[in-house]
Amino acid sequence: MNHTDPSDLSDLFASAKLQDAESEKPLPRCFALVPCAGSGSRAGTPMPKQYQQIAGKSMVMHTLAALQSVDRLENIVVVVSPNDAHVWPESNVQRLQCGGATRAESVFNGLTELLAIGVKDPEGVQATDWILVHDAARCLISEFEINRLIDACIDDEVGGLLALPMPDTLKAAVNGRVSETLPRHDKWLAQTPQMFRAGALHAALQAKALDNFEGITDEASAMEMAGFAPKLVVGSPHNFKVTYPSDFALAEDLLGSRK
Ligand code: C5P
Repeated sequence: MNHTDPSDLSDLFASAKLQDAESEKPLPRCFALVPCAGSGSRAGTPMPKQYQQIAGKSMVMHTLAALQSVDRLENIVVVVSPNDAHVWPESNVQRLQCGGATRAESVFNGLTELLAIGVKDPEGVQATDWILVHDAARCLISEFEINRLIDACIDDEVGGLLALPMPDTLKAAVNGRVSETLPRHDKWLAQTPQMFRAGALHAALQAKALDNFEGITDEASAMEMAGFAPKLVVGSPHNFKVTYPSDFALAEDLLGSRK
């Protein structure tokens, strides 16, 4: 495992909160963190899928372009793998080479570094700021949807996530055969961005770090385990995560049609 060492950071983060209270900046602010350290093994691409070319540029650059179009985001930080050899000539986006073995670990490591930077630099992320975590592999996110999430969560105590109400009938399976039809009225498909207070999300992830982030498949699941009920904000079917080989053609068509 390759955790950024979080020891003793709690005190530093607590003092960051005090700095926030003393600063004259209107708070809270919104930052984006983009986990970009996956290998994309299901995609069948020769390189990590986030660097695969789609509609003229790498997938992650489409993702970043959407985030950069949102005025209310102070800064966008990308978490890449420590051995990431990708060349980024086209971008001055801040990158942290602290990705981990799982998505949760990448987000946790990135957040740990950002909060540690924020302790020394009041311009950096403070514990009370909002952090929007967005998958590099969701390159079809739009400015409109990101703003919808911010509008819905900025005054919320907990924060929330983009998600889609389950449109289809939901089946449980055993050995490739239906074992049960499940009620779908209360089921949603989680997307990103997911927007939480940086300090609260860091604490929720830290609580699962020694457990190898068991059961943490998104930020909301960490917050749920910490006892919170994240808000569900309707997203878009276009904001799918490019995962399988067939997803690339669909993403290419949709991005092409936007031009
Ligand atoms: O693999 P999957 O598509 O679920 O990954 C979702 C996002 O999390 C991608 O943007 C991927 O790069 C990122 N990720 C990461 N670190 C990992 C695994 C995935 O940053 N160890």
